[in-house]
Amino acid sequence: MVVPDSEDNVFYPPIDLQQDAHVPNFNSYLELYKKSIESPEAFWKDVADEFFWKKPATGPILQYNFDVTKGNIFVKCLEGAKTNICYNVLDRHVKDGNLGDKVAYYWEGNSPDHHSEITYNQLLSQVCRCANVLKKMGVQKGDRVSIYLPMVPELVYSMLACARIGAVHSVVFAGFSSESLCERIVDAQSSVLITADGVYRGEKLINLKQIVDEALEKCKERGCSSVTKCLVVKHQALRTKSGAACNKLQTPWDPSCDVFWDDAMRDSSDQCEPEWMDSEDPLFILYTSGSTGKPKGVLHTVAGYLLYTYLTFKYVFDYRHGDVFWCTADIGWITGHSYITYGPLANGATSVLFEGIPTYPHVGRLWEIIQKYKVTKFYTAPTAIRLLMKYGREPLQKYDLSSLQILGSVGEPINPDAWLWYHSVVGQGQCPVVDTFWQTETGGHVLTPLPAATPLKPGSATFPFFGVEPTILNEHGEELEGEAEGYLVFRRPWPGIMRALYKNQERFENTYFKKFPGFYVTGDGCRRDKDGYYWITGRIDDMLNVSGHLLSTSEVEGALTEHPGVAEAAVVGRPHQVKGECLHCFVSLKGSTEFNHSLVQELKTLVREKIGPIATPDFIQNAPALPKTRSGKILRRILRQIARNDRDLGDLSTLADPKVVEQLFNQRNEGSA
Ligand code: PRX
Repeated sequence: MVVPDSEDNVFYPPIDLQQDAHVPNFNSYLELYKKSIESPEAFWKDVADEFFWKKPATGPILQYNFDVTKGNIFVKCLEGAKTNICYNVLDRHVKDGNLGDKVAYYWEGNSPDHHSEITYNQLLSQVCRCANVLKKMGVQKGDRVSIYLPMVPELVYSMLACARIGAVHSVVFAGFSSESLCERIVDAQSSVLITADGVYRGEKLINLKQIVDEALEKCKERGCSSVTKCLVVKHQALRTKSGAACNKLQTPWDPSCDVFWDDAMRDSSDQCEPEWMDSEDPLFILYTSGSTGKPKGVLHTVAGYLLYTYLTFKYVFDYRHGDVFWCTADIGWITGHSYITYGPLANGATSVLFEGIPTYPHVGRLWEIIQKYKVTKFYTAPTAIRLLMKYGREPLQKYDLSSLQILGSVGEPINPDAWLWYHSVVGQGQCPVVDTFWQTETGGHVLTPLPAATPLKPGSATFPFFGVEPTILNEHGEELEGEAEGYLVFRRPWPGIMRALYKNQERFENTYFKKFPGFYVTGDGCRRDKDGYYWITGRIDDMLNVSGHLLSTSEVEGALTEHPGVAEAAVVGRPHQVKGECLHCFVSLKGSTEFNHSLVQELKTLVREKIGPIATPDFIQNAPALPKTRSGKILRRILRQIARNDRDLGDLSTLADPKVVEQLFNQRNEGSA
């Protein structure tokens, strides 16, 4: 790695931050990085020593096989050790760190009228009570608990309660449809489901319990009756001032299964001995889109995930005791798991837990919250930045954002325009922007700047985090040196990497390890520049990244072809000013079906119902025929060009019928926005 010294658009961290940061300059980053690669044992031992271990490890920091030709793929961290992650992120601070009265979360609801503070003492007590409720419902170590909750404190209580008793949580983003929820419950065979009666997103009221009931009904139709209890939180926004339920929602209720959170918690003890877990016991499953359409249950385990989320949070956000950290992600995604729940709590940090959206009740909502809680470190997605850029500087100028010190970006490539706006307008030129590249599978940041140490280039995730060894391969699996572009892969594991796809070793190995034996394959393309900086160029599989969320094209195609009028569908990505990428769907219709506005609406609704609103197509285009090779393979490259209206098509000789392409260009404008 070379540090650039005179290149345009390179930003150096402000002097104040450099002076007393955990990693104060690029040389100290290089030294620590070298140690993490050459002496991983010594490097991670220092980190592990900060935690409580009921029993010390008998094995090394990491054991692994990344080479499918040599046997099963596996990763083990600190084998033989026993610990509990909930104990480490809560009891340890309360007992040894005197942090009991420190605020763990400022909860800010969808409406500014709803907010609360939760101290570490209160959090521990709620978690223990919830743990006892789950035990009473029969949940035991190793059992799965699905959690389908909006961003309310009970979501964190539920996750940590599971972790405390050794149950495996499977959080399902509460914007997913009943179908998606069902699919995830069936795969995990969860015994308990935790949800809420409803939630407001902006002005829209969503009846979550109804979605849950539909999902459970679908589970039964598929022969899965694993869920025996459903614990239901009454949302604060759906209570009267006295706390009673108000009548805005009809909450369906089955007394043999449904239990109100308040009723269950009322008599539950706030003492609960943690279950001492093996370092490699599962902690959670989190489903992420897979290119075959069926979501993949990414499994993370206790000890490695604890070490990794702790350390990445500490170094990437240069965490200090007085910080107020705010990650705007939803806990339903990995960003929330690692940087709202576990990473910040492992550090004893104070975070903002925000339920709402950036534009409600006004477009200055995020800036208002930064001012209100004096947020010091702010972490969001490029899609949110691009959305707020559209409203200009005025909404920001009403608020005092001088508390901000570090800005983070995650989820998708950040375009230099958005980066520069974030840096100069939100950060007023004073805050380094840490563009963190990682995945559900990596558990925590893997390519990222360190805020005081790394000279920044807008749009580059810069260099590897400690313990991470990236490399770039060409199509033949050959490693590329120096300036190069190809497949981003990792040569060795770090403690926080996924351990498995839940109950599917074959898919795990096929997806991540088969293409290039000896490497973990991210599925992303990447470029290394002459200074050694890494630039993510986007997915190289059939996944799309819409507003920072990965979607599988085949899952959307599967939903579209469920419509009785659709014979075939092909979905590709197309650039979108705010979302980064959006869905352009080509549909071939059956016989007499007519392509019209109402069909387009039906198809959009179908996709929303099957997957969720995040997958709603932006464009649906009639495609009497699709561009195929003589052997019948759809040429997606051409569809992507049609979607972009890019006529520079190159060689079309492989097409069975080249006329199809011209037809689709002509019909493109009939697509419905
Ligand atoms: O394509 C990369 C993109 O998001 C993918 C991972 O998505 P997911 O598992 O949902 O996790 C998102 C939050 C960590 C990656 O394979 N991605 C994530 N962060 C970046 C990114 N692309 C470019 N730059 C990033 N900083």
